Amino acid sequence: MSLLIRGAHQVATPLGRAARRGGKLAKLDVRPQAVVRCESGRITFVGEEPEHSSLFGDADETLDAAGGCVLPGFVDPHTHPVWAGSREDEFDRRLSGETYMDIARSGGGINATVRATRASTSKELLAGTLARLDNFLTHGTTTIEAKSGYGLDLETEVRMLEVIREANRVHPINLHSTCLAAHEVPPEYRDDPEAWVRLLIDEIHPEIARLGLAEAVDVFCETGVFDLEQTRSLLADAADCRWRIHLHADELTPLGGAELAVEVDALSADHLMCVTPVGIAALADSDTVAVLLPGTSFFLRSRYAPARDLIDAGCAVAVATDCNPGSSPTESMPAILALACLGMGMEVAEAITAATLNAAAAIGRADELGSIEVGKHADLMILDAPSYHHLVYHYGVNPVLHVVKDGHVVVRDGRRVS
Ligand code: NIG
Ligand code: FE
Repeated sequence: MSLLIRGAHQVATPLGRAARRGGKLAKLDVRPQAVVRCESGRITFVGEEPEHSSLFGDADETLDAAGGCVLPGFVDPHTHPVWAGSREDEFDRRLSGETYMDIARSGGGINATVRATRASTSKELLAGTLARLDNFLTHGTTTIEAKSGYGLDLETEVRMLEVIREANRVHPINLHSTCLAAHEVPPEYRDDPEAWVRLLIDEIHPEIARLGLAEAVDVFCETGVFDLEQTRSLLADAADCRWRIHLHADELTPLGGAELAVEVDALSADHLMCVTPVGIAALADSDTVAVLLPGTSFFLRSRYAPARDLIDAGCAVAVATDCNPGSSPTESMPAILALACLGMGMEVAEAITAATLNAAAAIGRADELGSIEVGKHADLMILDAPSYHHLVYHYGVNPVLHVVKDGHVVVRDGRRVS
């Protein structure tokens, strides 16, 4: 099956098979009027139409970009897409002045979603997840990292990861699964959090690894949740479980999560709203990707991660939605890019690299995803606008018209078609 995308005003993409840093974050390859050919799920040609015609015959299918801009599909490297219930009551409470942590301590927060998730059937969880995946897809996202973490007991964590596996099977989006059983201390262990840490290490992590349900592990390393020592011991079994590591680090307090992420050779250190200069230096000197989540800062009305300091120090910076019911209920990467630029001071080109190639690096897939280059997966979007700037400039609407996943048109004129 071959597909030719023609009629674009421009094809814009970062280039490479590894995360880009510093000044290179803003370097997009922009080709006016280029065409893209996809064959058997991969990109086989990017360039001028006459050259394409001299090298290839007609494609099985042609997609008319109609003067739009072609970009790589977004990779969203930090999401919590499986949950039940919703938390709009907390949104109101925060608008009246309570903090995220006040609400968590009074029985709301993550544990409110845990109660709703435990009470749901797997079928209900799958239906909710698939609806969210359709939102991701129509907003240009073709791959996500997906965490468990609203079960906080073996049975429900396993069910969540099974939902992620099933969603990956039936939906065009690829899901990279992460075990986040260490997302919070469940109410039944509130008086003895160390016993919960031991249960995670001795039983829950090994069983999830034995079932082969996760590719990575994550811990919410935060004051009042898991401290540095607990996080270190929770991550000690990662290699035995054959898991890569992501870490919720320095989100609400400057605990040293970024330094710990580097120490354990994590794929990514995420949030980083409170990262210190020492943490920035450690990240800059490592392969750990700094995944920034400006939607969470916006939604919690808190500070943004210091994106400029991180970029200027030479860190590999990516951005993600953090899609979850409490601190960032959105599937929209275009919204996140607007916040990356307007809230964190990134340039549009930097934000695009951060949401594609660098985001692919944050899940260990930069060799095959995140740019429009021969040999990479044919995961693309076509904007209803002539240049990549419109992705951020025309904010608050969905600028994505068509989406191609592995060489198949999966969104046409804004609607999912297969
Ligand atoms: O990434 N920080 C921890 N976890 C989520 C919030 C989850 C929730 O509030 O349900 C986050 O912000
Ligand atoms: Fe998160």
